[in-house]
Amino acid sequence: MYNHPYRPQFHFSPKEKWMNDPNGLVYYDGEYHLFYQYHPESTVWGPMHWGHAVSPDLIHWEELPVALYPDELGMIFSGCAVVDRDNTSGLKEGEEDVLVAFYTQHEENNEKQSLAYSHDRGRTWIKYDQNPVIANPGMKDFRDPKVFWSQENAKWIMCLAAGDEIQFYESSNLINWEYLSSFGNDFGAHGGVWECPDLFQLKVDGTDTKKWVLIVSINPGGPNGGSATQYFVGEFDGKAFHPDEGPAHIRWADGGKDFYAAVSWSNTEVERKIWIGWMSNWQYANEVPTDPWRSAMSLPRELGLKMTESGWCLTQKVVKEFDNIKEEKLNAYENVVVKDEQPFVFPSKDELFELKLKPKNIDPDTKEWGIVLRKGEKTETCVTYSRVNRQWSVDRRRSGAIDFSEHFPSLDAAGATRQHTDHHVQLILDACSLELFAGDGELMMTELLFPFDEDFTMQVYSVGGEVAFEEVKLTRLKSIWNP
Ligand code: FRU
Repeated sequence: MYNHPYRPQFHFSPKEKWMNDPNGLVYYDGEYHLFYQYHPESTVWGPMHWGHAVSPDLIHWEELPVALYPDELGMIFSGCAVVDRDNTSGLKEGEEDVLVAFYTQHEENNEKQSLAYSHDRGRTWIKYDQNPVIANPGMKDFRDPKVFWSQENAKWIMCLAAGDEIQFYESSNLINWEYLSSFGNDFGAHGGVWECPDLFQLKVDGTDTKKWVLIVSINPGGPNGGSATQYFVGEFDGKAFHPDEGPAHIRWADGGKDFYAAVSWSNTEVERKIWIGWMSNWQYANEVPTDPWRSAMSLPRELGLKMTESGWCLTQKVVKEFDNIKEEKLNAYENVVVKDEQPFVFPSKDELFELKLKPKNIDPDTKEWGIVLRKGEKTETCVTYSRVNRQWSVDRRRSGAIDFSEHFPSLDAAGATRQHTDHHVQLILDACSLELFAGDGELMMTELLFPFDEDFTMQVYSVGGEVAFEEVKLTRLKSIWNP
């Protein structure tokens, strides 16, 4: 059933039909819930529902029936879910804690926020009979509520996207909401509409200090065209968000083209913040060459925060549960040395693998080094670290099927927060995606790839000077869907 060309083998994709943003991410009673924007009738975007999957470990997913259907108030757009442990809403019935979901109801020029609740661990949902809980204030784009319990202020806080700003609201019972403040105006990128915000605290690496991180997706207006996710670091005083850095700082969570609408799970263990993004871009999401489904989620990633020489940096690491799908068999090549015209070449028939490179010595004359992935006669994808531009890049202009959209064949680059030369790089390849983690999770690039079916080699290379690697390590990954 999961043997279609390009079918992701360890990323979540729906059995069939269209999917976009992750929604309603909540952990409850040993299950991670992943709801998502879903169109059960077609492989292109249309009237939105919430699809549903659950997982015990963020890696193995079980798809469940559609959770929310459109109704007379409109389609079911993106939103969130929380556990109302103290029954502040009064919606609890029976033994189970009540789960409360918030979502935008979309009608042309009338977006408003509604609520639904579940007494049975998210299996069935009852729509609140006095929806919407926040009416449209007279704005075209007014959507994507994300709610959390603020311990310090003993109240619920909601953020949502309003045009190209974020609005904050408060509530004591999840039902009556009061407007608090707006953020945006002079800060961040404004090349498109702001969408899918999130607000949470993270501990600063190596300290006991906590900072607030505000996530804002934007479409279009991303650094490589189309959709992308930006973030701001600062303080939230219970009423308003105050960024630490001035308007000139624009920070992107992922420098690739295919990581969008990322939001975090609520109710996870203290000190563990996990998020997931939609692995596509609105520029071509409706055209990617897959059937009978369209789109996959990224791998779930654990978030951290660091102060670097170029300022705040949101760090991401694949969740540790991912290690369970690593095959024991691996190829580790030690003391690999490459230079001009002398790449290190090794065969790779496997579609699914993790590749780790750890440079040890880099000749100062080296202009760039990197790896050519899946190099066949017609196909190759180049992943490069340019020491000159201090940038990582992914060149997918010859990566395989590319001409379904003029926006797809791209050379995408992302600036490194510092010289990453002394750090390892991790590449994770599934049937149609690449996730690159460089430094200590300081730089991410997520890219879709649709390679032709060929015999591939991989090539580690350098230009200008010699590069010695401590290790080049290839680990096979197990398929979740075709075990
Ligand atoms: C982001 C988004 C959201 C909206 C949803 C509609 O990708 O545009 O703002 O709620 O998708 O499917």
